[in-house]
Amino acid sequence: MTHHLSLTDIADLNGRFDLYGGVHKGLRKAGCDMLCRLGSTDYENPEEAASALSALRTFLMLAAAHVAHEDDNIHGVLQQRGGTTDTVDHQHDDHRRAFDQIEALACSVETVSPIGRRAAGRKLYLAFAAYLAEDLAHMHEEETETAAQLWKTFTDEELLAIEMRIVASMSPEKNMAFMRLMIPAMNPVERAAVLGSVRTGAPPEVFNAIIEFAVRPSLSEKAFSDLAARLKLAA
Ligand SMILES: [Fe+2]
Repeated sequence: MTHHLSLTDIADLNGRFDLYGGVHKGLRKAGCDMLCRLGSTDYENPEEAASALSALRTFLMLAAAHVAHEDDNIHGVLQQRGGTTDTVDHQHDDHRRAFDQIEALACSVETVSPIGRRAAGRKLYLAFAAYLAEDLAHMHEEETETAAQLWKTFTDEELLAIEMRIVASMSPEKNMAFMRLMIPAMNPVERAAVLGSVRTGAPPEVFNAIIEFAVRPSLSEKAFSDLAARLKLAA
């Protein structure tokens, strides 16, 4: 990948459907949190290291799932209508290589002799930081270049149908895990909008489960009561 540090012009949403917005906010927050955790973990403490590596593996699993969702549900249909996805396709290939390298470094933290653990943790931290830097630049490309093509090529109804296909392709557990990433990363208006549409589209027991197991545990008390007021949830 050639590197020109540049900020592609950021267009106004102009009321269009923001296909990438919520999930990318969630991945950015989770990635930044993960980076700080990998930097502050005491790798010589076995329980602390194991817990950080377990969180890392959950993050990598969701990041890999996200890349596959975009490949399977966005890039193909955009190409069929004459769009180009070469840059983001290559970036996704780079991501998959990075996931393997990070997993290998995580394994070496687990298998190295105790005296080498701190050094192995440092390598893992630096590799994750480099990956995250590329992912941030990649998501910027998607939310500027690719999103502009999507808005030109598809109606909002079609974009919403793409999102619904992605949601329908996931198990309830995986949907829940993405909610847990996304909700705390969103602002109050976005949280209320997403959960309002979940409430409209899903059975009440599914909505309630999402509130109790994904939303409440991921928000501060203050943020949760703000959301509850916006959604007019019964206390
Ligand atoms: Fe992507």
